[in-house]
Amino acid sequence: MKLFLDTAEIDEIRTGVRWGVIDGVTTNPTLYGKIEGMTYDEVLQEICRITPGPVSAEVVADDVEGMLGEGRHFAKLADNIVVKVAMSENGLEAIKRFRAEGIKTNCTLIFSANQGLLAAKAGASLLSPFVGRVDDTNEEGMIVVRELAEIVNFYDLDAEVLAASIRGPRHVTESALAGAHIATLPFKVLKQMVHHPLTDVGIVQFKKDWEAARAAIAAKSGKATDSTPEAVGAKA
Ligand code: E4P
Repeated sequence: MKLFLDTAEIDEIRTGVRWGVIDGVTTNPTLYGKIEGMTYDEVLQEICRITPGPVSAEVVADDVEGMLGEGRHFAKLADNIVVKVAMSENGLEAIKRFRAEGIKTNCTLIFSANQGLLAAKAGASLLSPFVGRVDDTNEEGMIVVRELAEIVNFYDLDAEVLAASIRGPRHVTESALAGAHIATLPFKVLKQMVHHPLTDVGIVQFKKDWEAARAAIAAKSGKATDSTPEAVGAKA
């Protein structure tokens, strides 16, 4: 399963890429609004430079020609740009035309399997059902991810399901189990996935035990010993 970062923060993306776990990035106008001192184009170019996979850039026009104009502009910024288009009648037409021009699209704001099916038929390569926003309405957002993944696999459609609007680590596990090809997550969720209280306790305990063992050996031999693993390794 691929993991994307859902952010426009360059430092967060650098960190995730350094950890070796990030396959792409999704941005949107809200996420860009949190960045200071750079244009959207500059932000996108830098993200595309440091990201190993697709980077979604969202158009905001409502009309087909406007969407095409914004999307063509983004597509020229870098080879790994994917144009993000909101689900709508005009959005479907724009997706179809982008496809004909060889520009990849991510259909966003999907809230039903039918919307996802239409987006795939129009030619979107990424289908983004929003999980958290549905959960917020007291419904189960993961149902759409599961249904859409089943449809895409059943008909072998040329599209990937990208679980979006992820609010916590459990959403990532559930997206993977539901068959999503990708989940896009805020950096905070990525960090939550790394940690577990028992892992942290275990690391502290192993270090303590190591130091106690070295101190015991030193006491037996009557010598003070540098008990760091580096020093022990150097002496071996
Ligand atoms: C990503 O492509 C979406 O724009 C994003 O996941 C939406 O997340 P939110 O519902 O937390 O704003």
